[in-house]
Amino acid sequence: MPDEKVDPSIVLPILKRIPLFSGLEEDLHREIIDQIVLMYYPEEYVIFKEGDEGDALYIIKKGSAEVFHEPKEEGDLPKKVAELGENDFFGEMALVSDVPRNASVKMLTDSEIFILSKDNFKKLLESNSVLAQHVSKAVVERLDENLKNQ
Ligand code: CMP
Repeated sequence: MPDEKVDPSIVLPILKRIPLFSGLEEDLHREIIDQIVLMYYPEEYVIFKEGDEGDALYIIKKGSAEVFHEPKEEGDLPKKVAELGENDFFGEMALVSDVPRNASVKMLTDSEIFILSKDNFKKLLESNSVLAQHVSKAVVERLDENLKNQ
């Protein structure tokens, strides 16, 4: 997959619209821009699989994705967990808790995805409590939802 270093003048307004990054100082937006890459994925592309080690955070710039559990036994079907769209993020759970991916994610459309490496994401969380709060709120909500749907 080709990847691109992002153009700050294009990406700054986009980052400001992403709820995860809203409310952050402009300096921090610039720091994120230096670290983020933009990737293009085709429809049906599996970004990672349940059980994989977490290495990055993903933010959907364009397109949509399905979060699903792999079939447990032969003949079982994949179990849909959630559908994510523009400006949603995924892959944060394995990073914040240092555990394997709790579900697989595949693209439902041709998509543009921002990717932030685990190291850069964790450094950002450590240095920014607003961002850390956004992320832990999402993690708690998602864990809660998954428990209810078990
Ligand atoms: P991670 O465990 O790293 O990899 C799978 C990802 O799916 C997980 O992080 C979350 O980002 C995402 N995910 C898991 N459960 C939900 C949910 N209920 N709603 C939305 N996204 C989810």
